[in-house]
Amino acid sequence: MSEYILGIETSCDETAAAIIKDGREIVSNVVASQIESHKRFGGVVPEIASRHHVEQVTLVLEETFAKAGLTMDDIDAVTVTEGPGLVGALLVGVNAAKALAFSHNKPLIGVHHIAGHIYANRLVKEFEFPLLALVVSGGHTELILMKEHGDFNIIGETRDDAAGEAYDKVARTLNLPYPGGPKIDQLAHEGNSVIDFPRAWLEEGSYDFSFSGLKSAVINTLHNAKQRGQVYRNEDIAASFQSSVVDVLVEKTYRAAKNYDIKQVIVAGGVAANKGLRSAMETKFDDEAIDLMFPPISLCTDNAAMIAAAGSIAFNQGHRAAWDLNASPGLDL
Ligand code: KG4
Ligand code: ZN
Repeated sequence: MSEYILGIETSCDETAAAIIKDGREIVSNVVASQIESHKRFGGVVPEIASRHHVEQVTLVLEETFAKAGLTMDDIDAVTVTEGPGLVGALLVGVNAAKALAFSHNKPLIGVHHIAGHIYANRLVKEFEFPLLALVVSGGHTELILMKEHGDFNIIGETRDDAAGEAYDKVARTLNLPYPGGPKIDQLAHEGNSVIDFPRAWLEEGSYDFSFSGLKSAVINTLHNAKQRGQVYRNEDIAASFQSSVVDVLVEKTYRAAKNYDIKQVIVAGGVAANKGLRSAMETKFDDEAIDLMFPPISLCTDNAAMIAAAGSIAFNQGHRAAWDLNASPGLDL
């Protein structure tokens, strides 16, 4: 008999639900984005996010079941992002999941948002261990070593801003709309890397990251140029910034992959949609026996199919949440 897992994700600014079959096949995947509502504020406003989730969550769930042609009777487990994220936003998904699971007497499973981003890749291809995941999103920049399913060992992480956060902040400095990542990516392809922005390699052998110095360097460069009456093209700023971010992400991932004898490298999270990062990773790993994998763009940014994919593993490993499952904004992996 097939296994059907329901996933619910409301940790930030997307209200999402999905049903997957046998851990790896998407049956339906619905994402209601709130980006338009947050754009005029230049970033996600938590209170607005929570309200939108409340308005959307039932509709998104109804659409998910309608598209799948299934009912709650067919579902084996309800999985939901319990953290990290915005507390008010997470609470909407957690409560919807609890209500559904409790009323239909189904198992409830809490999923870590980053585990979800990693498991988005398993909807494309089976994992091979040891596996190294580079998770790059608006809230996270982490190198995670996995020796088996559900086993996450963080070997490097950002000490300040996340990669996506740096993209969004630099975009704001250039007066580009939120979220800035995709726009900077596009501009970078029309520009040249004419400014040598810093690359934070940190101590020898460290797999940690730091992007706040780079962000400040971009702001200072623009400020100084303005005072001198010098004008940089946004395209060139974007290209220079992007090459600094991409160089560090690719090099540290490569070194870690070699050091830990990795079989498969996966890139996950919103910034995994970045064209510059994708092509630089492909070039770097071209000659290697290491399998390199990116999720399709639609599965890079927040969605619930990835939560169900990670949830399916937890379900089969016997994990169950209690009925007092709560939103956990600072949850550790
Ligand atoms: O994973 P995600 O949807 O949400 C979080 O969990 O944070 O990632 C959103 C982040 C934003 O910072 C956005 O600017 C960035 O991913 N992003 C990109 C690109 N597409 C989205 N950054 C760089 N290049 C892109 N093409
Ligand atoms: Zn995310």
